[in-house]
Amino acid sequence: MKVTAIILAAGNGSRMKSNIKKQYILLAGKPILWHTINAFENSAVDDIVLVTGKDDIELCEEIVQASHFKKVSKIVTGGDERYESVYNGLKCVIDTDIVLIHDGARPFVTEEIISRNIIAAQSDGACVTGVSVKDTIKIADEDNNVHHTPDRNTVWSVQTPQSFVYDLIKNAYDKMFDTGVFDVTDDAMVVEKYTDHKVRIIQGDYSNIKITTPDDLIVGENFLKNF
Ligand code: CTP
Ligand code: MG
Repeated sequence: MKVTAIILAAGNGSRMKSNIKKQYILLAGKPILWHTINAFENSAVDDIVLVTGKDDIELCEEIVQASHFKKVSKIVTGGDERYESVYNGLKCVIDTDIVLIHDGARPFVTEEIISRNIIAAQSDGACVTGVSVKDTIKIADEDNNVHHTPDRNTVWSVQTPQSFVYDLIKNAYDKMFDTGVFDVTDDAMVVEKYTDHKVRIIQGDYSNIKITTPDDLIVGENFLKNF
């Protein structure tokens, strides 16, 4: 059984408001993306497809070569939207049974989370990493009045990796691109919309944050001090 990780690093990081793209900002002296690749290099995945911007291929090659990451088999160009980057990655994967799709901007993913994803994708076909929400969640109407309050035990905050049997996710993405409607915000939604397959939620970690805004860098530095 072959397991491939697709690591996404083709975004512009606009919410970070930094002059360098957020995935290349240093945390504890290494680019955020380095930490992410390192986690997968030291995990049970067999290979890694890295998706990046067309101007950053060389930079990614340098990061990979400098640290002798052996599992990165391909570095490919992404698209303007995350779903395009994922699709480009999926099209470059060869002979794989399971794919883990992961945000390059989530550097604190652990070996345990990766292993849980592989096991669940093998047994159930499709899974997402998630944590139960700590706050009460309200669903609002168009006037920002509370419409209803879902039972907190049923509400999850979803992270990546999101992991699938390759044919299932590739066929679902093919269908979405055929229809040309792209109203999805994660990979699981593509499976939810375009297949009948169930998506299982598996346990993530509250520290598996996506570095999105400048305050996340402070949180991230603190995590690394305590690692
Ligand atoms: N991503 C990607 N291709 C895109 C957009 C996003 O590969 N066209 C990647 C990002 O590099 C990131 C992950 O998907 O690792 C999650 O996206 P997000 O946190 O939204 O990153 P950005 O889109 O770069 O940031 P922003 O939305 O603030 O511009
Ligand atoms: Mg984005």
